[in-house]
Amino acid sequence: MSVLATQEFCITLSDLASFMEISPTEVKKKAEAVLNKKVKSPWLMPEEVRTLLLASGYKYPQKVISVQMLKGGVAKTTSVLNVGLRAAMYGAKVLFIDLDQQANLSFALGVEDESLPVWVDIVEKRKSIEECVRFVEPHVDLIPSSLNNSVLDRALMNSNRNWAQVVKAPLAKIRHRYDLILIDTAPALSAVNTAVTVASDEVVLPVNPDKFAFLGLEKNLSELEDIKQDFNLQFRRKILFTKFDGRENTSHELLQKCIESFEDSLMKGYIRTSSEVKNTVRSGKSLFAGKSPVKADYDFVTREMLGFV
Ligand SMILES: Nc1ncnc2c1ncn2[C@@H]1O[C@H](COP(=O)(O)OP(=O)(O)O)[C@@H](O)[C@H]1O
Ligand SMILES: [Mg+2]
Repeated sequence: MSVLATQEFCITLSDLASFMEISPTEVKKKAEAVLNKKVKSPWLMPEEVRTLLLASGYKYPQKVISVQMLKGGVAKTTSVLNVGLRAAMYGAKVLFIDLDQQANLSFALGVEDESLPVWVDIVEKRKSIEECVRFVEPHVDLIPSSLNNSVLDRALMNSNRNWAQVVKAPLAKIRHRYDLILIDTAPALSAVNTAVTVASDEVVLPVNPDKFAFLGLEKNLSELEDIKQDFNLQFRRKILFTKFDGRENTSHELLQKCIESFEDSLMKGYIRTSSEVKNTVRSGKSLFAGKSPVKADYDFVTREMLGFV
């Protein structure tokens, strides 16, 4: 099912060198010492990176992060995809959960099969969560979505159990296997998304510079605040600025407004706009193999989410 070539899926020694602030030769030496073998390629596999980083004192988190925003087209799916792939390159064990019936994340990961079990099958007890997990790449698993999930909201309302727990409860069985669980959502204030929030340690809200972005953000934040109170939750909320265009005033104005209004919640990293993003998602080519400026942006945001900065 592999959609990416090995060298596109692995982090290079030079990327690791700039992250660890040592030279590529030193990275290689260190890797050879901890792996107890010669490193011949200019990149390392996720498992090798994990061994190297653990030996260097890095710790992987245990987090469920959902990406939500009632507005479509703000780069929810793009962000989930690139952060997840990059986190795996850093050696994290990643589970993607696609809960958008449009299934763009599943398509981007090469999973395009309406007959595969999806979350609604878990809710309606036809499948276990384990049966829904698909292997994508080393360190990357996916619970895909499809149009079958479009009845999820109704299924939640019809379920006898506590509907708000329908994401968190099944996840409890497998979450110990992963460092990072990333949930992609549909643009809606739905029951499903409430259940996603209940399951989240962190909710990331992408916002991009357009006229109604701030209004959407405020509406989404107040909804999250209500859910937090109603269900007595502890999740952190983070705002991720996407499609930043340095040449446009709207970008600077919105960024300024976000800094003033939500300083603590705004992520340090932000994502610039780049035409190359479109080309990577559907072509099966990793953004990290190319030279797009957005590569560095998602690299930084990934490290922020992993707690590596
Ligand atoms: N940094 C970026 N620069 C340019 N285009 C982007 C960027 N991030 C995402 N896009 C494009 O914006 C569109 C919407 O992105 P997507 O991730 O599908 O949003 P959402 O999941 O919020 O609906 C897609 O066509 C995607 O390729
Ligand atoms: Mg999407």
